[in-house]
Amino acid sequence: MVSSGPYHGEFIRRLRTIPVHGLGLSVDVHAPDLTSLRRSLQERQVPPAYLEVFRTTPKALASTRKQVGDGLLTYHGEGLWLTQPEMADSTAFEQEIAEAAKHLMLLQSAWLNHECATKYVAGYHYGTYVPPLYTPLSADVVAHNTRLIQHLLDRQCRLTNGNTPLMLLEMPPLTYFVAGTMSIPTFFRVISERAPCGLVLDVGHLWTVFRYSDAHRAMSLTRFIEDFLGEFPMDRVVEIHVAGLAIHESYRALASRLTRDMDDDSLPAWIDAHAAPIPTVLFEMLDQILCHPQLTSLKGLALEVDTKPVELIVDEFAEFSRRYGALFYRLTHAEQAAPDFEVRSVLECPREIPSTQPLQEAYDRYAQVLVGKTEPVGSEWSQDKAGIQELDLYRSLYLPYELLHWGGNLEDMFVESCRRLRERDVSLDGFVAFWFREPRPLVGAYDFFLLKVDRFVEFVHEVAPELHGIAEREAEELRQAYRFANEPGVPAQVS
Ligand SMILES: [Fe+2]
Repeated sequence: MVSSGPYHGEFIRRLRTIPVHGLGLSVDVHAPDLTSLRRSLQERQVPPAYLEVFRTTPKALASTRKQVGDGLLTYHGEGLWLTQPEMADSTAFEQEIAEAAKHLMLLQSAWLNHECATKYVAGYHYGTYVPPLYTPLSADVVAHNTRLIQHLLDRQCRLTNGNTPLMLLEMPPLTYFVAGTMSIPTFFRVISERAPCGLVLDVGHLWTVFRYSDAHRAMSLTRFIEDFLGEFPMDRVVEIHVAGLAIHESYRALASRLTRDMDDDSLPAWIDAHAAPIPTVLFEMLDQILCHPQLTSLKGLALEVDTKPVELIVDEFAEFSRRYGALFYRLTHAEQAAPDFEVRSVLECPREIPSTQPLQEAYDRYAQVLVGKTEPVGSEWSQDKAGIQELDLYRSLYLPYELLHWGGNLEDMFVESCRRLRERDVSLDGFVAFWFREPRPLVGAYDFFLLKVDRFVEFVHEVAPELHGIAEREAEELRQAYRFANEPGVPAQVS
């Protein structure tokens, strides 16, 4: 299906200002260290054509810009919770937009890639992305919020070439379940009809849709991709990501026991895992995706490799370049018969959308479902239970792991506090219940690590008030170490 309408015209106008970026790497400049990664890529003579950089401090972004000279950099933002109906009401939103604009200008990024997912639902905070409710009202809200963000960037973010970065939405992965009543490709089609944004298609995320929407029981992977791409607005895809997949640590022991009993058509319970090797199946999927006739807006093709060993990144990128270099060049330099759209020069300020109260209530229920306080029933949940068969893995394994171990193991972070809690027979499982006991509003820029540190001090104060001083001392040491780790010195220049 080909996109049309005023927002598509606006998208095309913005797209025309963006150069072809080529084959790149999407990285976290701290993990692995960017200087040594770039050196190893140079030594193998496979320098990436661009780097997509995940959000970090302005100092680290400025240092990255300096390090790569004139090289192309793009930005993978975070903290703009555009799936949430109350996004613009939060006091943190203005701060997040101003920060995103500053980061985009530091990098001189042609686009702002943001996951179409959230780490904040109805007052509850998460360490990793929670996918949106896939419903018609939710698509409407995402489109509205995306237009608003683009409008604010138009006002606050002007690159030196005179352009404004284009907003890209990345289709998020599924982690064991899907929530909603609408098919995922239709959800993105509706958004693209109502906003001038581009899209990022992540091949690993697409695999998780095949796996957790239960499509794999009904059809082959090839057929699934064909159907999915037939509905997904492929002419809005500006970037494609490929990253690793793996069984999650919280599920590994259980999964190896279950493997013995799996029937032949079962697929592994992989989820998105940037540190893991990229499985071959994703390149087979990419081959099929790159053949799609509506893939007419592609500017970049990147491996997403944060937290992965340097040697593995270099090996994978060398093979990736060998396999896709020439094809990508042909695809992006083919003469496109671009339709002549009537375009508006500046996006109008988005008007108020219809009441979002029902969606806010649906997200309230969603947060309760995620933590297991209520069951997935209600108009926002599909009658077909195929997509929630493994929801309990998220609730009972993944989510507690996220709070106790992800982004910092509590027992390693608060060594003395945890030892003394153990002496008092206080289980850390209580921290999970404490975290989700009541909603808390968003305050300031989103940082899960610092939030976890603050909340743990509060938890200790509640369950063992006499340990408060110890917890606070450990917390202050953690905050200082964190600040130091995120503000490294200027990396050495790579020749
Ligand atoms: Fe991605």
